[in-house]
Amino acid sequence: MKSPRSDGQKFIIPSFFFIVALCVLAFINEIRFDSFLRFGRCALANIPVQNSSSSSSDILLSENVNSSSSSAAEEIRILIGILTLPDQYQRRHFLRLVYGTQTPPDGAKIDVKFVFCNLTKEDQKVLVALEIMRYDDIVILNCPENMNKGKTYTYFSSLPDLFNDTDGPNPPYHYVMKADDDTYIRLESLVESLRRLPRDDLYYGYVIPCPSMDPFVHYMSGMGYLVSWDIVEWLRDSDIPKKHIEGPEDKVFGDWIREGRRGKNRFNAKWSMYNFPEPPTRCTHELWPDTIAVHLLKNQEKWIRTLNFFNVTSNLKPSKLYHIP
Ligand SMILES: *[C@@H]1O[C@H](CO)[C@@H](O)[C@H](O)[C@H]1NC(C)=O
Ligand SMILES: *[C@@H]1O[C@H](CO)[C@@H](O)[C@H](O)[C@H]1NC(C)=O
Ligand SMILES: *[C@@H]1O[C@H](CO)[C@@H](O)[C@H](O)[C@H]1NC(C)=O
Ligand SMILES: *[C@@H]1O[C@H](CO)[C@@H](O)[C@H](O)[C@H]1NC(C)=O
Ligand SMILES: *[C@@H]1O[C@H](CO)[C@@H](O)[C@H](O)[C@H]1NC(C)=O
Repeated sequence: MKSPRSDGQKFIIPSFFFIVALCVLAFINEIRFDSFLRFGRCALANIPVQNSSSSSSDILLSENVNSSSSSAAEEIRILIGILTLPDQYQRRHFLRLVYGTQTPPDGAKIDVKFVFCNLTKEDQKVLVALEIMRYDDIVILNCPENMNKGKTYTYFSSLPDLFNDTDGPNPPYHYVMKADDDTYIRLESLVESLRRLPRDDLYYGYVIPCPSMDPFVHYMSGMGYLVSWDIVEWLRDSDIPKKHIEGPEDKVFGDWIREGRRGKNRFNAKWSMYNFPEPPTRCTHELWPDTIAVHLLKNQEKWIRTLNFFNVTSNLKPSKLYHIP
């Protein structure tokens, strides 16, 4: 009679300690697992740094432990100025569709603006004002409309004063692009390629001459090139461009950069930027997924083929209000 009870007691007491021990073990494990997870996350977060020693933004990311500051470091602000003419209403309408339907990636702020010189006709004063009221995406520079007489210089050198709001972020944009109105830019790919690059003294684009892959050879093609904000400020302040305003705009731009010894950081985005494949030249490339910009979209057919290739309408939301086969 006694022995079974004492047997039971003998069993209960060690079991109790065993359970307590299990709990302690589990607790310790949980901590270990948690810190392992945290370690794993840290290890993952640091991967991009290994590949890009020159990228100041990535380095900032790895140094910032707290998330509020790292998201600020991740932010990237880009101004894309499309140089066009006041009367190009249809082209602007179309480009608003093309860029308005693209969603920039997280942390990227991209402003696409149309840039031209002084208005010259009465109807422009009404029509362009209406566009501004509706879209607010137009910059009218203080210049007579011109080609190869300094519009590019006026564009870049006006920006520091146009965007000098002291309450806004500084710099207002990390990068400023000048683009053609017959260029299709894929914003997500552009941001992706910029994230790895320095935010100062950068001159980015499709290097001319076409077969060259060396970004220091000559200058970046007018299809679309981009510089960091410090170069924009330098263009405003320096005497180098002021002495040499006239000439083929983008070549002259390259001359200023060379003469001023700017653009130590260069990035040749060829063959992610290229001319439309037809007619084939040394500057063209087939449409392919790894694309940042396609240039020389001189007619609607070329635009349609390009937009189709990149499936830009494939995620149209279904509705009974329309049917597009
Ligand atoms: C990482 O570095 C390798 C070798 O230098 C290069 O081929 C690759 O493009 C780089 N990737 C990124 C995302 O920078
Ligand atoms: C987070 O980073 C900001 C800016 O670097 C700093 O001012 C702040 O003290 C940091 N917060 C913590 C909790 O470390
Ligand atoms: C452009 O227009 C502004 C305002 O209408 C005028 O003050 C300026 O002189 C014009 N600039 C040129 C270069 O015509
Ligand atoms: C911004 O630029 C305008 C025009 O040059 C100037 O009048 C204004 O004082 C500037 N504002 C600041 C905050 O620098
Ligand atoms: C477009 O969609 C097709 C069919 O889904 C796919 O095969 C192709 O890779 C896509 N093209 C691009 C550039 O994403």
